[in-house]
Amino acid sequence: MQTINELETTIIDMVQKGRGVLAADESAPTIAKRFDAIDVESSEENRRAWRSALLTTEGLGEYISGTILFEETLGQKADDGKTIPQAAWAQKIVPGIKVDKGKIPLALSPGDLITQGLDGLADRLRGYKEQGARFAKWREVYAIEDKVPSQHGIEANAEMLARYAAVCQAEGVVPIVEPEVLMDGSHDIERHAEVTEAVQHAVFDALIRHNVVLELMILKPNMILPGKDKRRAPPEEVAAATLKVLRRTVPTAMPSINFLSGGMGPEESTINLNAINQMASDGLWKLSISYGRALQQPSLQAWQGKAENIPAAQQALLKRARLNHLAMLGEYEEAMEND
Ligand code: 13P
Repeated sequence: MQTINELETTIIDMVQKGRGVLAADESAPTIAKRFDAIDVESSEENRRAWRSALLTTEGLGEYISGTILFEETLGQKADDGKTIPQAAWAQKIVPGIKVDKGKIPLALSPGDLITQGLDGLADRLRGYKEQGARFAKWREVYAIEDKVPSQHGIEANAEMLARYAAVCQAEGVVPIVEPEVLMDGSHDIERHAEVTEAVQHAVFDALIRHNVVLELMILKPNMILPGKDKRRAPPEEVAAATLKVLRRTVPTAMPSINFLSGGMGPEESTINLNAINQMASDGLWKLSISYGRALQQPSLQAWQGKAENIPAAQQALLKRARLNHLAMLGEYEEAMEND
């Protein structure tokens, strides 16, 4: 009962109209890649300074209700001396934690991937909770090739996501379930839809088999897009394809769908989110964000690893957060980019 109360409270704190999640949980190799692009060394201090800058952005809590952190960040201090989870809380932003340990090839299943990290997960969650985390994230990754993902790969990944989600709920931690069908490649939008539909169908089947309470979790899916090597689809087409797959696969018991940005640009991901919310007049789920790159990129460019650039970096983050807030309400217009 105690656990159910904890889960309910976290869902109430996180799922609110017009607010979304900031993903700042890049693993060591990924943050090194992002820093490399601005010629900044990925030292522990630089990672701390960057994530402190993000989460102490004044006013961020108006648009952001949760943030996904990397394990190292949970124990680090913001510039004001608070721990980073406390700094997030100070803005009513719920701190969460990425708990998966990354992907490897699925053995004997060429081209399929699988994510690791279930061993000892319950113990790790107890520790993360003591450090302030109230929700978790686990990402499974599906590349699209001719015969990939295989049905076997889809089922193996679904099983992992469901086992992770069940352990989280048993520990009073809200699971964000992230099955990401990548947009890399030259597939058309129909193929992305077909694979995502099969993936989500298997994921919800597994979640239900594992007794996961759908009301107390959040789905983090990809939007439906043509492959990156193809021409971009108009937002109305993305919105229609995305909503069609969601309506076919996601029970309405699930409170919130928080899209990943997955390589869409900052503006592109806001435009598509806005189109989705304008088209989804039926209010089945909250249709929100859990963007990493699309929220952070302009801010990272402004920062350049320099303390004197932090105010500009925070302004850039706040701008993207506000525009995505408007997109969650279906009230975004491209002209607002120039305000
Ligand atoms: P992107 O929005 O950059 O895809 O990152 C979201 C995320 O958390 C991926 O796991």
